[in-house]
Amino acid sequence: MGNAPSNQPTDESQIFPSSDLTPALHEPPIPPPIAPPTIQSHLLQTVENQEIPLDTLNPKEDWIEIGQGAQGKVYKASLLGTPVAIKIRLGNSITSNNSSTLFQEIKILQQLQHPKIVQYMGVATDTDGNLCIVSEYLSGGSLFNLLHSPNQQLTWRDNLLQYAIDLCQGMAYIHAQNPRVLHRDLKSANILIAGQSTVKIADIGLARTSADVMSSKGTERWCAPEILSGNSHYTEKVDVYSFGIVLWEMCTCAIPYQHDRAEGLAARIINDDYRPEFPNTMPTMLRDIYEDCVSSKPVGRPDFAYLLTKFRGNKMSNEIESRNGSYPVIHPNDCLCLMRRGNTATRYQRCLSYM
Ligand SMILES: Nc1ncnc2c1ncn2[C@@H]1O[C@H](COP(=O)(O)OP(=O)(O)OP(=O)(O)O)[C@@H](O)[C@H]1O
Ligand SMILES: [Mg+2]
Repeated sequence: MGNAPSNQPTDESQIFPSSDLTPALHEPPIPPPIAPPTIQSHLLQTVENQEIPLDTLNPKEDWIEIGQGAQGKVYKASLLGTPVAIKIRLGNSITSNNSSTLFQEIKILQQLQHPKIVQYMGVATDTDGNLCIVSEYLSGGSLFNLLHSPNQQLTWRDNLLQYAIDLCQGMAYIHAQNPRVLHRDLKSANILIAGQSTVKIADIGLARTSADVMSSKGTERWCAPEILSGNSHYTEKVDVYSFGIVLWEMCTCAIPYQHDRAEGLAARIINDDYRPEFPNTMPTMLRDIYEDCVSSKPVGRPDFAYLLTKFRGNKMSNEIESRNGSYPVIHPNDCLCLMRRGNTATRYQRCLSYM
């Protein structure tokens, strides 16, 4: 465990009243009471050898906040001089109700090791007693931010095709685990830029084994209709659906359903097969893949191994090359993200509020 919390008494006399300090003659000394293990320390003990001592991280005051999502805040910190990302989950005090879920999640993170998945490094407990999930830090930011940067230079030929291949490789690996692991929150904000033309999948915090019953949802706009409708029996094909929406983002640089009212949107997705419209300027093969991925019938959606062969095939590169590969990739005129060029902060917040 980390350092003792600062509000703990440090002076022995504060812990034991003076009468307790000197045991009566001839009586064996009374051992100090041993505190029962807290749920948190129990959780950390169970996650063998995964606890990162707090003194190997730089002081919490020096951590830099780099993002906030539905599940918590993310900081850039330093572990023995190496940059790391630390996620502190919102409302993450560990209770007897959620400790087994957290334990399950950490076990899943521990088992995943793949070049296209952000590497989990361990857990720590900060000075306030919060559980911190420590992972590799990627300085390139998220795909969401890149897609919505005014001066980005993305094209399918130069980088987006490779991003799609990376995502299929990472997702095929996640789905190949036994028992099978689902991501369930795949979206451009959970995809991080790892180099000129490489991405890694992040934030498998909502991941569960497929045997689990789900209690919380991934972000609605990327969420498969069977999850939105509250069905707890669904398959890994929910991730294929979300990948389809990410594919759409990579073809439009827009936010799914950005002009639709949030009220009633889920019902339209569930009941009317309502989906983001695919631009007809894009290669037909991409459109076909998109439509298959976002099919309302999970069995009709391809798996990631199949998608990989499609993205790697000659037909795909020929289609992309046929128009100099220069799609798409401009912001639509009405993209809210463009407003970032003008009056920045609040408008950008509006844009992120779609997440
Ligand atoms: N390992 C990391 N390295 C670098 N930046 C990261 C890392 N993890 C997250 N981030 C940044 O922090 C931001 C916020 O991440 P966070 O996961 O909290 O929010 P989110 O992805 O928008 O929502 P959700 O809670 O649904 O995952 C990300 O969009 C990304 O820019
Ligand atoms: Mg995230």
